[in-house]
Amino acid sequence: MAEAGGPVSAGEVATITGIDRKEVDKAFLSPVRGCILGWTDAGKPITNSTMKEATIETLKAENTIDLIAKQWMLVTAGTKDSFNTMTANWGGIGYLWNKNVAFVFVRPERYTHDFIEREDRFTLSFYPEECRGALQICGTKSGRDIDKVRETGLTPEELPSGAMTFSQARLTLDCKKLFKAEMTEADFIDKETMARWYGERGGFHTVYVVEIEKVYTK
Ligand SMILES: Cc1cc2nc3c(=O)[nH]c(=O)nc-3n(C[C@H](O)[C@H](O)[C@H](O)COP(=O)(O)O)c2cc1C
Repeated sequence: MAEAGGPVSAGEVATITGIDRKEVDKAFLSPVRGCILGWTDAGKPITNSTMKEATIETLKAENTIDLIAKQWMLVTAGTKDSFNTMTANWGGIGYLWNKNVAFVFVRPERYTHDFIEREDRFTLSFYPEECRGALQICGTKSGRDIDKVRETGLTPEELPSGAMTFSQARLTLDCKKLFKAEMTEADFIDKETMARWYGERGGFHTVYVVEIEKVYTK
């Protein structure tokens, strides 16, 4: 048996989880194998885990700037029958209108934008480092062109609200839309920022302010 935190062999994974050895070998060859197998650093299977509801206090233990900017997040909108997800690292977590809120910036050309527009809510979810490959795929490929679940091995999980996240998430914020604004050229006080990030690099973001209604952790 592997030690907690130590390397785990494909054979051990097959023995412990009961997953067919051929499937395990395939997953081990994948750049995002940690996500496919749903293994934590401690070597414990999390594939069939259910998330636990936590409180907003959980976020006090996080450096939320680092959390979003460096660790990245998945923005996931839609229902279990039809959803899409994309990587984002622009946004924030804060306090507005006496509510705990998050704000995210989504360019209109993203497929995820269509789903966000259709729904009243969406989730922001955060992952252990071994899922970086999955987040890279979700941040460079569109759900219009690929099946992100199949390509990444992320396991969709429906929350009690009907919003979607993935079992591998170490932290999920289930959020209700409160406000949206579409950026325009005239809104930019600093025109250099506008010139740097818009035009050839993409359309003006839609800004969404959402209330963090529920927090889930492992
Ligand atoms: C690290 C990283 C951060 C990103 N942050 C954002 C963001 O904040 N807003 C945004 O609109 N796109 C962002 N993207 C780009 C989208 O994730 C990307 O265009 C994705 O392919 C859109 O997928 P979709 O078309 O399935 O929605 C980011 C990509 C990466 C890799």
